Amino acid sequence: MIRRLLVTGGAGFIGSNFVHHWCSNYPNDKVIVLDALTYAGNRINIQKWEEQENFRFVRGDICNASLVKELLQAEDINTIVHFAAESHVDRSILEPRTFAETNVMGTLTLLDAFRDRWISSSKSNHKSHNKSHNKPENYLFIHVSTDEVYGSLNPEDPAFTETTPLNPNSPYSASKAGSDHFVRAYHHTYNLPTIITNCSNNYGAYQFPEKLIPLMCINMLMGKPLPIYGDGKNVRDWLYVGDHCRALDVVINQGKAGETYNIGGNNEVENIQLVQTLCNLMDELADNLPVTPCADLITFVKDRPGHDRRYAINASKMKYELNWIPKVDIQSGLRLTAQWYLQNRDWWQPLLSVEYQRYYNQVYGDN
Ligand code: NAD
Ligand code: DAU
Repeated sequence: MIRRLLVTGGAGFIGSNFVHHWCSNYPNDKVIVLDALTYAGNRINIQKWEEQENFRFVRGDICNASLVKELLQAEDINTIVHFAAESHVDRSILEPRTFAETNVMGTLTLLDAFRDRWISSSKSNHKSHNKSHNKPENYLFIHVSTDEVYGSLNPEDPAFTETTPLNPNSPYSASKAGSDHFVRAYHHTYNLPTIITNCSNNYGAYQFPEKLIPLMCINMLMGKPLPIYGDGKNVRDWLYVGDHCRALDVVINQGKAGETYNIGGNNEVENIQLVQTLCNLMDELADNLPVTPCADLITFVKDRPGHDRRYAINASKMKYELNWIPKVDIQSGLRLTAQWYLQNRDWWQPLLSVEYQRYYNQVYGDN
């Protein structure tokens, strides 16, 4: 079956890695990227596919109902892989409303447009010669969500499973939980073929500088302080982005509509340990660093308000039902990532814009 995918947020970090994965592995499928190119979106991330006949980039907002509707119809979309979101917790603390608009209302807009298409495919399916990709059973809406919707764990708590109640703590996770609820409700109420994935912290190439790992790599390369929130003992469960893309591939091809799948790296690490490892890697990999050892740059700063202590994903359902496990261990993944930021100064330097500096001063300025 030929898939005709709408990839929302395909110019962002995970979305662009997913585009590389899908276009390389399924060259006969059609891939349409819909991305508003906010500060976090970068068309350069997917530029290598722009020449391909089966690829199209559309700059636009997922909250624009008429645009979304037209696009689904014009491109005969049967699969939505929905990444587009405001994704940074620190920004959600400064500007919660944008998160509600994009993450909740944008998702709702996509669900409504997709539902219309799916209903019309069921109607036209009764007529004789419907193409296979148009058949209602070939429609699928994948909602890419986060482990943060489950809240925060104490050190002794078991990892989040798919039945852990949602208990979001930040404006970001509250908005993602809101979107998860809508996706679930559209399946329950209308039987819309949707799947939710809740994934742990990703890292790898093309991640915007504001997130922990790129921020640390870039600051090391510039000899700037490495700001660690609070006591540095918050724990995240790190997953290499390529493993996440493989997981989504398996979910799209073998997942069951109406289900939720937790995706995680089984790699729980304290922030301070992670940064120390990155420092050692950068000391080894980079010549002419402004400050060595990089660990001399580590600076403890004021904690993030409401900072979740620990996340951990139980990904057994992915393993036992869909035969997926992560392949990249944290040491090799961090090495690949540190190398990527070292070799791709041309990619990240232009992103450190005036707007970015303003944001940076707002978050770190008081320290
Ligand atoms: P990102 O911030 O790097 O990219 C988001 C993309 O969405 C950008 O290209 C941006 O331009 C686009 N976008 C934002 N608002 C839009 C709008 N209104 N209309 C159209 N496009 C819009 O985010 P990411 O880290 O790649 O995360 C992608 C998805 O995965 C998000 O839904 C996020 O919640 C989820 N997620 C992320 C992680 C992680 O560790 N990064 C982990 C689990 C889940
Ligand atoms: O868990 C999945 C989530 O992971 C995704 O849903 C989010 O989109 C993604 O941004 C990420 O959220 P986090 O808040 O965990 O990621 P961040 O990179 O912002 O921070 C990781 C940890 O590092 C967190 O405990 C806060 C800490 N931190 C972060 C920054 C930016 C610092 O100590 N210093 C920093 O400067």
